[in-house]
Amino acid sequence: MARILITSGPTRQYLDPVRYLTNASSGRMGAALVQAAIDAGHQVTVISGPVSVEYSDQATVINVITTEEMLEVAQKHFPDCDGLIGVAAPCDYRPKKIEDHKISKTGSPLVLQLIETPDIVATLGASKTHQWVVGFALETEDQHFRAVVKLEKKSCDLMVLNGPEAMNADENSVDVIDPQGTVLQSIQGKKSEVAAGILQLIDENLIR
Ligand code: C5P
Repeated sequence: MARILITSGPTRQYLDPVRYLTNASSGRMGAALVQAAIDAGHQVTVISGPVSVEYSDQATVINVITTEEMLEVAQKHFPDCDGLIGVAAPCDYRPKKIEDHKISKTGSPLVLQLIETPDIVATLGASKTHQWVVGFALETEDQHFRAVVKLEKKSCDLMVLNGPEAMNADENSVDVIDPQGTVLQSIQGKKSEVAAGILQLIDENLIR
């Protein structure tokens, strides 16, 4: 049994009390991984942005809104975990200023200044002691190369590469890549089947 932390779903970065930037992530792959980890006998804590999917009631679920909140909660739980699966799609930018009141239309273009949010997987990866870290990369071009670069940059032990067709779909098609850049396995099928395959690889390569 391992204690697994899973970040899942999108985050939101508000511009004003009603408008926000976000990512097109449904949390479905995250929910499938939570279930697969529970089925494999692990103890799971999931930190999730706003989603409409439901997570297994056998997992501890912590809801957050922003990338900064997701990082703060993840940093609190990471030291007591054996590994992290970063399947969330955190919003990479936040408005420099959050307006207190709803921004009114003026008839002129609105210019937003955006600054980068912290990278959760990279931050936790850089601080890992005994933990393993599995990241996800969703790429539209030079997919394998970009995934390997991210694996290294974020200190991951495995990187799961998927394409944009994964978003909000029932099925997924992934390559699981190791730190040598080798594709350990390509897995296609329903997200539940893909999640079970990823968990089996984690069990074989990182837990046992
Ligand atoms: O956004 P990017 O493609 O770099 O995401 C790759 C991995 O990094 C994913 O596992 C994702 O969950 C994670 N990530 C993160 N925090 C961010 C951006 C991405 O943890 N701000």
